[in-house]
Amino acid sequence: MNFELCAWCFVLRIPHGRARNGDGSKYKGQKFKAQSTKHKVKLFMRKPVIAGNWKMYKTVGESVDTALALKPLVANANHCEVIIAPVFTSLKTVADRLEGSNVRVSGQNCSTEVEEGAHTGEVAAFMLRDAGARHVIVGHSERRHFYSETDAMVKRKCQAAISAGLTVIMCVGETLDQREQGNAENVVRGQLNGGLSGLTALDLDRIIVAYEPVWAIGTGRTATPEQAQEMHAFIRRVFAEGHTATAAEALRILYGGSVKPENIAGLMVQGDIDGALVGGASLKAESFAKLVNYERR
Ligand code: PGA
Repeated sequence: MNFELCAWCFVLRIPHGRARNGDGSKYKGQKFKAQSTKHKVKLFMRKPVIAGNWKMYKTVGESVDTALALKPLVANANHCEVIIAPVFTSLKTVADRLEGSNVRVSGQNCSTEVEEGAHTGEVAAFMLRDAGARHVIVGHSERRHFYSETDAMVKRKCQAAISAGLTVIMCVGETLDQREQGNAENVVRGQLNGGLSGLTALDLDRIIVAYEPVWAIGTGRTATPEQAQEMHAFIRRVFAEGHTATAAEALRILYGGSVKPENIAGLMVQGDIDGALVGGASLKAESFAKLVNYERR
């Protein structure tokens, strides 16, 4: 990587366009340390995340087939973290079959309860971890809207997941009505603060935020890269207000909502878009592999 230290380094920022991979593409790599003769600083670079949300699709056999087809297609993808989220019943088998690969497995939801107990139909975060998951999606709009999940529940789920050693992909996003009424930022701010208040600095390392405008999910209607970038930058500002500027710089913010192989490169080039949470286009190995191996500009 060619990295040019500049006057901004002491405020822990890297001006866009200064950090480049060896192939010249914009670098959003993992944390690393950079030193200059004048400043000793820790710069937070963000490694992109491409996550597939399989929702309520696929039997165990189908999940394994897709995961095994995906594995070789993304084996060289060192530029990003690759995650798939199968249904609960497939999770353990898929995780076992992917062991040793660069594809991580995520739950799609977890219980608000930390401990095991009499909670019929629920799955605790530590059980997901035990089954091989390293991540869990929390607060997806389908859970908020169809299963009445509140910010308070999302917050408890985040805390349960973190205490189980999982990384949380916490979803936020406004409906079309809310956007048209000019409330998109207020809604997203409320979801962020509602879900993530009270977390410690260490906990924040385990948080990834996914901005998924509800009007773009499964509709084929993607937010434009500029619309998404605007909200991602807003999310980073809100996160800095609620936590610290350093935590906000390190936060990975994924975009979700009709992401496809045709539109991912335009999204990923935006400075505050650190990856994608993909539904429909993640269900086929070839299409998801194209997303993982997006054209890096
Ligand atoms: P979509 O779903 O890519 O099918 O729009 C995204 C999501 O719900 O996470």
